[in-house]
Amino acid sequence: MTEPVIAQRAPYPVDVEKGKDYWWCRCGLSQKQPFCDGSHKTTDLTPLKFTAARNETVWFCGCKHTKTAPKCDGTHNKLPV
Ligand code: FES
Ligand code: FES
Repeated sequence: MTEPVIAQRAPYPVDVEKGKDYWWCRCGLSQKQPFCDGSHKTTDLTPLKFTAARNETVWFCGCKHTKTAPKCDGTHNKLPV
């Protein structure tokens, strides 16, 4: 599997902490969305590290097709059904 599956067609808002690392699930298989739980091991995909620059709410992509990973860029509205 080289293409991600759609976890959900909307972003996941998460309050991140400055300086903390987060591992965004790129494959869509994680049960702990939007973050990696190791389920990608059955795929060719790997998680993407995100380090929070400040305390803020980040809208992590849930559809896994964003062009600005790990953040939502609205692509979920254009995905074929
Ligand atoms: Fe999806 Fe790790 S479970 S990238
Ligand atoms: Fe993926 Fe918005 S949830 S682009």
